[in-house]
Order: sequence, then structure tokens, then C-alpha cells
Amino acid sequence: MTPRTTDWWRHAAIYQVYPRSFADGNGDGIGDLTGVRNRLDYLKELGIEAIWFSPWYLTPMADAGYDVTDFRQIDPRFGTLADADALIGEAHERGIRIIVDVIPNHVSHEHEWFLKALAATHGSPERDLFWFRDGRGENGELPPNEWQSIFGGPAWTRLPDGQWYLHLFAPEQPDLNWRNPLVHSEYEDILRFWFDRGVDGIRVDSAAMCGKDPELPDFDHSGLPDPHPYVDLDINHDIYRGWRAVADSYPDPRALIGEVWLADPARFARYLRADELHAAFNFDFLGCAWDASALRTVIDQTLSVHATVAAPSTWVLSNHDVTRHVTRYGRPDTSTAAGIRQYNPIVDEDLGRRRARAAALLTLSLPGAVYIYQGEELGLPEVEDIPADRRDDPIYHRTGGKDPGRDGCRVPLPWSGTKAPYGFGPDDAARPWLPQPAAWAGLSVAAQEPDPASMLNLYRAALALRAERQDLGDGPIQWLPAPEGVLAYRRGTDFTCLVNLSGTPVALPGDHAVLLASHPLDGNQLPNDTSVWLRTV
Ligand code: NOJ
Repeated sequence: MTPRTTDWWRHAAIYQVYPRSFADGNGDGIGDLTGVRNRLDYLKELGIEAIWFSPWYLTPMADAGYDVTDFRQIDPRFGTLADADALIGEAHERGIRIIVDVIPNHVSHEHEWFLKALAATHGSPERDLFWFRDGRGENGELPPNEWQSIFGGPAWTRLPDGQWYLHLFAPEQPDLNWRNPLVHSEYEDILRFWFDRGVDGIRVDSAAMCGKDPELPDFDHSGLPDPHPYVDLDINHDIYRGWRAVADSYPDPRALIGEVWLADPARFARYLRADELHAAFNFDFLGCAWDASALRTVIDQTLSVHATVAAPSTWVLSNHDVTRHVTRYGRPDTSTAAGIRQYNPIVDEDLGRRRARAAALLTLSLPGAVYIYQGEELGLPEVEDIPADRRDDPIYHRTGGKDPGRDGCRVPLPWSGTKAPYGFGPDDAARPWLPQPAAWAGLSVAAQEPDPASMLNLYRAALALRAERQDLGDGPIQWLPAPEGVLAYRRGTDFTCLVNLSGTPVALPGDHAVLLASHPLDGNQLPNDTSVWLRTV
């Protein structure tokens, strides 16, 4: 067996904590760092090797913390810098690494730089840190161009002094001007701030959107122009080369993991060159239909694209921006782009959960690193019936509800008990910031722990095997001949994974012992929508 490389980010199982919804330590209905510290043993027992924290910094929460006022302060809702230091130390004591989220495209409208820019004059150095422009039309009453915000509505907001500023997301998230060297030095300093505190990695938010064409040209929003005025500009690579130099200046490996949504695999790979990011999320896999040939194609493309730059692949099924995959896989037509958000009440949750179990054994045995979104190990579905007045996501509000937004995948976790708040906080009277469904009693950690067939115990068993077997994680894969609709591959010398999406049971090979199955086997038959891990005997 080839020993695993020491580069943890090439093979780790990384758990995403969305701090607001993981666990509430002080009983105010909002998750916090004390809540996470109280549950570190749960994560250790789950078997993960690193935690990626969605933003925990000072924020007015216009976009759930992706609008940062100060990257060097923890938001009081989550705790203090001392809590973060303690958490990093306690995680390290358990052998768990820490990744924090850094958002280079924009800051909060309450950030000191933006407040100073507002107070400064047109054309001032303070305004040059952002994209301030005069409007078009006789009195500048029209925005500088027709760019639309990704959250809905125009990407420009006008100030009382007549100028407009650019925000590709919400108006509370003004875009930074990466052509200004101060922006580079400030962010490199932020990285050092967290690396110096022991943080092991950075997740880079909206990594391919930072650079803007300074001409700010209009484009047809119905397609993807090439070149695009703000997606994948060459200047982005200068940013990450600078960041990589900072990461590499530390004796222990510090990793940069990019959120890079790009359709062209070759352009995607450019972010993973040896002097740029270490890894990036694989959204093609996340968005793939539950279909053997589509999955095989995505897996092969992923592996070959990463091989061109010797970067590790990543596998991710859910995160805080997309409909949870139990729900996506439970939709009658899984060929719809699985990553998009949409209302569709017709969901077969049992089917979705069965496929999610099979998908877990698939992702956990593919070559590279794997990301687990909190609650995925409990098989949580998307919560689709959150009342309008409890919804928080700016996407919901800015699209007038046409896009349900992302609240449904951000509902606080159920830990124990038979009714909400399911042990989310120390106090049963506290109302979690988003309502939890009545049906979640059976999905809590406490309910699943004693049940050997639960999703939680499947994840625990799979992660334990993955940690034990040096041939899982990074390394070669060999596809094996298999009936149509079945994925079959070998890792190392004696590990095989079979995933049956063929619609009918298929026979297992005779010379194998079963290590783990996502659903009970029927004699030597592998049922449909089931994965199995085998060891050659
Ligand atoms: C991507 C993040 O994952 C998402 O939650 C956020 O709203 C946008 N970037 C803007 O920061």
C-alpha cells in the first residue's frame, strides 16, 4: 500500500461548519464558537480531519456574514477572538485542522474603508479602493452600466452625492478594486493574521470574480461572454500568487482552497497551478444528475483536469449555498441541474436519502479531498416551508421570493430531544434563528447514535475506514468493467467500490469481503441505488 502524502489538503475529509446553525453555546438561538467547542468531540468521533468555518467575523449580517466589517474581529454573536484562539487550540489538540473563509471580492458597507470612501470626494484615493463611477444620462441618473447583481436587481447603488458604486452581490457588499495595491497588501496581512493564530487553511470566497475590466463594458446577461468583464480575469492569478507566497512562508503547509465556479475546465485548472491555490471546490460533481454515465463523465473530467496541474480533486455534495442533496436526489427528475435552488414540493425524501447514502460511499472513496456540509451526516433534507417573515437570505428578498434562497439548507442542527430546538442550545426556550421542522426528531444526533443503520453511523463507519486505509484519499483510481448503470473502481490493490444506479440488482463479485454497504445487501446482490465497499480476499 502506498503511504499517503503528508499534504493533508490532498486527501482530508473536511467538515463545513456554518457557525450560525451548528450549535448555540449561550442560548440566544444563534450558533456560536462556544457551541462548536462543546461539540468538538462529536466531530472527532465523526472522523473528520479539518473544519472549514463559514465567516465568523464582525458583520452586520446582510449576507449571513459574507459581508465583513473587520476580518480581525469575531462577531459578538459568535464570540470573541479569545474564543477563536481557544477553538483553534482545542481542535489542534484533537488532530483537527482549521480553515477560515476569506472574502476578497467585497467587504461590508460598514467596513472602515467604505465609510471613509463615502466621506471622501469623487476621484479620491479612498474611493479608488472600490468601484465608484458617475452615472449615465443627462443628470447621471442611470447606473454606469447594466450589470445585474447575482442576488437580483442592479449591481449599482447611487449615493446622495450622485456617484454610484458597484456591488455584484447585495448593496451592503461593495466590490473592492483589486487594481489598487493597497487591497493586495491588506488581504495578505489578513492571511498572516490568521495563519499566525494557527489557522491551517483559507477558503477563498468567489475566487474567480475579484478582477474587473476597468472599462466596465456592458454585456449580454443571457450568455457568458468571452472575455467576461468580471469573471476569470487574469489579474485574479496575481492575487493568488501573492497569497500562495504568504502561505508558503510558513513552515507547516497552509492551504488555499478556492470557490471557483467556471464552466471551462481548462480555465478552472489555471487557478490550481503550483504557485496559486492548492485546491478548489468541484461544483460540476455537485451539480451532476444521479445518473451513472453522467457521474462517470464528471469524475473522469475532474481527474484529468486536475492531473494537468498535479492538483488534488475535491468532492462535494452540499454546502450552505445549494439545496441539500437528500432533497435534490429525491426530486423525480434529477437531471435538472442539481446545484440550482428551486421550489419543488414533489420530493421522495426516502429515495433522496437512500441515494445520498450511496453518494456518500462514492465521494468518500474517490481520489482527493472530500467536503461534508454540516447536517449531511444526519441526512437532513432542505427545509422548503420556512415562512416568508422568518426568511433571512437576501436572495429570497431581492428576487421577491422567486428564488427561495438558501435558508432551507441553513436551518440549525438537531442534536437531541423530540421537539424544536432539539438541543441546539443549552436552553429549550430559546428560539433558533430559523425554525426547525417537527419531523426532525428522528434525525437528531441522539436519535441516530444508537441506530446502527442511521446515516450518522454510515458516515462514522465510512470515515473510519477512509482514515485507516492509506489507499483512499489522494492517489490513483482504476475503473473496472461493470454492467451499464453501475460504477465500479479499484483503489490501491484490494479496495473496490461499486455504485448501482442501473435500476435493477446486480451480482457482487465472488472473491470479495464486504467492508461497508449503504443499504442492506440481498445475498450476493447489490440492490439499486446502493453502494458497497469491498476488499479483495
Ligand atoms: C459565495 C458564498 O458561498 C455565498 O454564501 C455568498 O453569499 C457569496 N459568495 C458572496 O460572498
